Formats: sequence, C-alpha cells, structure tokens
Amino acid sequence: MSSISEIKPVTTKSIDGAELPWVPFAPYSDEVLLKYHHINPVHGEILVSMRFPPGLRLPTHYHTGIVIGHTLTGAWRYLEHDWVSRAGGTVYETAGSSHTPESCGEEEAEVFFVIVGELLFLDEHGEIVARENHLTSMERYLSYCREHGIEPRDLTAYA
Ligand SMILES: [Fe+2]
Repeated sequence: MSSISEIKPVTTKSIDGAELPWVPFAPYSDEVLLKYHHINPVHGEILVSMRFPPGLRLPTHYHTGIVIGHTLTGAWRYLEHDWVSRAGGTVYETAGSSHTPESCGEEEAEVFFVIVGELLFLDEHGEIVARENHLTSMERYLSYCREHGIEPRDLTAYA
C-alpha cells in the first residue's frame, strides 16, 4: 500500500513578476507587451502577461493547444465571438480554435495567459504565415535581455 507521503513533491515555485521585463511582441506589434513568467519546454507551456493598448487588433491565429486567459484590467474580445472579457473575467480557448483579438474601450488591457502549444498566425486565406511557441518566446525574451543589458533568468527552472 502506498501513501502520498512516499511521493516526492516537485519544488513549488514563486515567481517575482515585478523584476521581469515587459518585452515588445516583435515582429507583430511593438505596442503589445509581454512579461514571460515561466516557459516549460517539456509541455510547450508559457505563462505570460500581455498588455494591449486600446483599439489594438492582432492577426488571426489558430491554437494547437488550450489557452486560459484571465483579464486583470481593461477589456478585450475576439471578433468571431459576441462576448467581451473584462477585469476579473476568464477565457478558456480550446485546442483547434482560431480567432482575432482586439482590445476594447479606453483603457489598456492586461491579461494573464497560460498557453499550451503553438499559435499559428493565419492570412486572409487561412494559410499559416508565422508560428509562435515556447521556442520563439524564449528567443524573444533572451534577445530583449541581450539588447538591454539584462541578465536573463532561467525561465524554465522550477526552483
Ligand atoms: Fe487565442
């Protein structure tokens, strides 16, 4: 008979977001800022905060995995749906969904996302024009740190 006390727990990680940089979402938009909290290359999972100025629209994208977004400030929506996510709201995006994000209202929107798998950016014919995943996220973070003289953290670490 086994007991839960025999199972060695993985270290619990607390991430101090205050010291992490806001990185422009290049090459898509310098006005959208990303704060990468954790990047998991095993699951292809990214924990990231995003800030969008009012009235900004990003390209249509397709998700290979699930996405959970929790809105902290402002409001945003997908053009394909009739809801608006406002502060305190949570959006669950299913694998295989595609949509076009747009910020609404007068205030900047900040959303915390758990993203699994890839975002495939699509053109007007539904053809893939760019891919975003844990590797492109890590490249973006590391190159921003290099350009700004910031000592990068190991975002993959659990301790
Ligand atoms: Fe999405």
